[in-house]
Amino acid sequence: MIDDHTIQLKEITKRFGKKVVLKDINFDIKQGRIYGFIGPSGAGKTTLVKMMVGMDIPDEGSVYLLGEKMPNLEILQQIGYMAQSDALYTALTGKENLMFFASLFKLDKTEKQKRIAYAAKLVNLTDDLNKKVSAYSGGMKRRLSLAIAMIQNPQVLILDEPTVGIDPELRISIWNELFRLKNEGKTIIVTTHVMDEAEKCDYIAMVREGSFIATGTPRQLKEQYGVHSLDDVFLVAGREG
Ligand SMILES: Nc1ncnc2c1ncn2[C@@H]1O[C@H](COP(=O)(O)OP(=O)(O)O)[C@@H](O)[C@H]1O
Ligand SMILES: [Mg+2]
Repeated sequence: MIDDHTIQLKEITKRFGKKVVLKDINFDIKQGRIYGFIGPSGAGKTTLVKMMVGMDIPDEGSVYLLGEKMPNLEILQQIGYMAQSDALYTALTGKENLMFFASLFKLDKTEKQKRIAYAAKLVNLTDDLNKKVSAYSGGMKRRLSLAIAMIQNPQVLILDEPTVGIDPELRISIWNELFRLKNEGKTIIVTTHVMDEAEKCDYIAMVREGSFIATGTPRQLKEQYGVHSLDDVFLVAGREG
């Protein structure tokens, strides 16, 4: 382990062709907190979280997760990842999807059943588990993806726009669960473009055009920029940067 950092981003630069989509990102993520990467579409959030998971590699710099340089297959047991676009087996039922993803991890049979029941309940899909995913709405698919991300009880949760298309009531219960998991010592990373979700994070990084334009706790950022909302922080920081 490299001290107590759960994730370290060291001098990350990423290009697609000639376009630089991440510019020299340095950032430390500590255990037991919720981090939010906030920024408009195209800012580089998805590219960044994919590197944390090890699904993509930077052109320059390195990512360390739980002390291991990514990508690293061994460490996948410890990471729950919810991609921005759902990757589900639509010809299978919700339950079969959960069973499939659970089988990728080191869980015994009882544990597997327990985790499937827990994850389905968490996203309010228990009653729809025997339906084929092809019959699910967009929001239901999002919820199933979230359940899959949590299936093996991972130490680190990386959620790319987890609450898009999810109704307000369930959004609240999902956030309450994220708070509970945080208090259990899990480390949670979410991306969002919704500022009221950013308020719920312990620490945020505002991303614009591949750079962090402001980082800190929601309160620190508002104080630093002398404004009352994170929307205003983004505007002021963006102007200065
Ligand atoms: N595979 C790819 N090939 C080329 N360009 C890409 C690819 N993936 C992302 N990009 C570009 O990188 C930039 C950042 O994208 P992305 O990380 O998806 O942003 P965000 O998640 O913040 O919306 C965008 O300009 C996007 O068009
Ligand atoms: Mg994205």
